[in-house]
Amino acid sequence: MKITFCCTDIKPGPWIEDLRAALPEAEVSVWQPGDPQADYALVWAPPQQFMDEQPGLKAMFNLGAGVDGLLRLKLPAGAAVVRIEDAGMAVQMAEYVCQAVIRHFREIDAYEAGMARGEWGFRKPRRRSDFPVGVMGLGVLGQRVARALAHFEFPVNGWSRSPRELEGITTYSGAQGFGDFLGASRVLVNLLPLTPDTRDILNADTFSRLLPGAYVINVARGDHLVEQDLIDQIDSGHLAGATLDVFRTEPLPADHAFRRHPRIKLTPHASARTLREDSLAQMIGKLQALARGEPLTGVVESHRGY
Ligand code: NAP
Ligand code: GLV
Repeated sequence: MKITFCCTDIKPGPWIEDLRAALPEAEVSVWQPGDPQADYALVWAPPQQFMDEQPGLKAMFNLGAGVDGLLRLKLPAGAAVVRIEDAGMAVQMAEYVCQAVIRHFREIDAYEAGMARGEWGFRKPRRRSDFPVGVMGLGVLGQRVARALAHFEFPVNGWSRSPRELEGITTYSGAQGFGDFLGASRVLVNLLPLTPDTRDILNADTFSRLLPGAYVINVARGDHLVEQDLIDQIDSGHLAGATLDVFRTEPLPADHAFRRHPRIKLTPHASARTLREDSLAQMIGKLQALARGEPLTGVVESHRGY
């Protein structure tokens, strides 16, 4: 079995070493233009040239949960695209979103600013029931985030493409459920895949349907968000602020308006990192399942875009 590694911005050394140790019978190498045909590939943001030169790939393992970058390319016709399912990402995402929601709900910024000014004073406790959280996307990550928020006793709403039942979560689905979902939510968390249906979904119309004083947390993709609409709605007071981990342009330019906005908190696409050991264990398990002719989970359905 020949495995090739073609990942932008990921150091290949440790991945190759671990793959060789786990699959001593496999031939594992870092892809170079002109290389011979491989059977399987580990990919992250590969160039089109890689796809053009590897038409015989049987499967590609994407080193992330989101496959929007890969689906922009023309892919080898017979290659299954397999994405990471959790592998240590879901707990990271739950931590990140809970800290953002709790930081906002408990007014930690205001407390910190007061302490920095030398003050000592309490703010009136807010009612958790006034901060229902809406989670867009109830897949591997969204479900974990929704459960973690419910654990902190926030009322939680969830929205997905097909109907889902989750204990303790009020669920909505499809275009017909979107308005009711938004109208019941004061904090909006985006965990949708980026597809033609979801691009620009965080826009002025969506924000205007949230409860007043709403807060936006985008941890999915930058192209979900219409940036100026967010700034306008925060500046008008309809939105209280936002926490953003993903951007239309990454790295976020040094002079971008988000960087100096007092009500927008930023991190550099770090909310849920790909963990090498966990991800490789999952991929190796799937490679072995493929070799035994067993069906896999996490295979992307290109017509859906995720
Ligand atoms: P997933 O398991 O595929 O879940 C996707 C969810 O979105 C599903 O519930 C799906 O509905 C729903 N959905 C898709 N299209 C929809 C639409 N048009 N309307 C309503 N719901 C829709 O994906 P995941 O593993 O949870 O990951 C989600 C995304 O998180 C990734 O695609 C990636 O962009 C992002 N991500 C970001 C980071 C980071 O560090 N910032 C890290 C990892 C992932 P159904 O349940 O009906 O299928
Ligand atoms: C990261 O953004 C991922 O899709 O895994």
